[in-house]
Amino acid sequence: MYNLNGKTAIVTGSGRHKGIGKAIAMRLANEGCNIVISDIVNAKGEQFTAEHIGAIDEMNEIVEMCQLKGVQAISVHCDVRSEADCANLIAKAVEAFGTTDILVNNAGVGYIMEPFTTFKENSWDTVLAVNLKGAFLCSKHAAIQMQKQIMGGNIVNIASQAAKSGFPYAAAYTASKHGLIGLTRSNAVELGKFKIRVNAVCPNHITTDLGDWQNKFFSEKLGLDYDTYLKSIIDKNPLGRTGLVEDIAKAVAFLCSDEAKYVTGEAMNVSGGEEYH
Ligand SMILES: NC(=O)c1ccc[n+]([C@@H]2O[C@H](COP(=O)([O-])OP(=O)(O)OC[C@H]3O[C@@H](n4cnc5c(N)ncnc54)[C@H](O)[C@@H]3O)[C@@H](O)[C@H]2O)c1
Repeated sequence: MYNLNGKTAIVTGSGRHKGIGKAIAMRLANEGCNIVISDIVNAKGEQFTAEHIGAIDEMNEIVEMCQLKGVQAISVHCDVRSEADCANLIAKAVEAFGTTDILVNNAGVGYIMEPFTTFKENSWDTVLAVNLKGAFLCSKHAAIQMQKQIMGGNIVNIASQAAKSGFPYAAAYTASKHGLIGLTRSNAVELGKFKIRVNAVCPNHITTDLGDWQNKFFSEKLGLDYDTYLKSIIDKNPLGRTGLVEDIAKAVAFLCSDEAKYVTGEAMNVSGGEEYH
């Protein structure tokens, strides 16, 4: 366990029970952090269908689960595409707990996939706005706060294997996640003097709600049944399994801890050896 007692941790896109964001929040709560659960929740629309967005009661249940671990937790609605929402997210964390020590940029959309030659402009804009601009906006407002803190802070960006390799039908997703590594490196270099460390974690496949949707999408494209497709992913993985949300949460806790205090600008693969550059 790492000593993160009393730190304030914000996790974006953490309002779904099966999601990576919830697992990160729960792990950081286990480490003694006060938690800000945040999600778009009530902003469903054409490109944010109910299937892909956590509900408000789901978000509140996750807050209660964090509180049961003996830490304080609140929920804040935040559409990461909006600068006003991102500024408010940081302000609400500071109002509740006095600091912003950890920001995990986890919110992402990975279900907008189209053949490249028919990829719609608004699809591209949505993916880039959530996955890349969202991380920029939240990081910007977190960094403004962290610069005022003697202990600085930690920012962790949840990227992807798609930050290092290409995937079909996923030009926008892949570009956004490659871009997130650029943002990570640039921020690490610029913010290091304020004791702000900035790292990224790159998961391979995890069967969250998003991962389940991707399994269905790719198995259909390849003309395979769901289980055969999943087995094909597992077969090519050196450690013989897909990822677990807890694998990512462990990496985030490590990166936010003093055990990693000389680590910044890193894009850490957590992929069972599937991705190694
Ligand atoms: N599951 C995987 O296989 C996998 C692999 C690599 C990377 N990732 C990344 O991990 C992160 C979490 O993914 P997940 O698998 O838990 O999926 P998920 O769909 O459960 O989580 C994504 C969360 O982002 C939220 N969100 C979407 N648009 C938002 C917006 N505009 N503002 C705020 N929140 C918004 C959703 O409501 C949801 O709670 C994503 O960034 C994803 O790209 C996932």
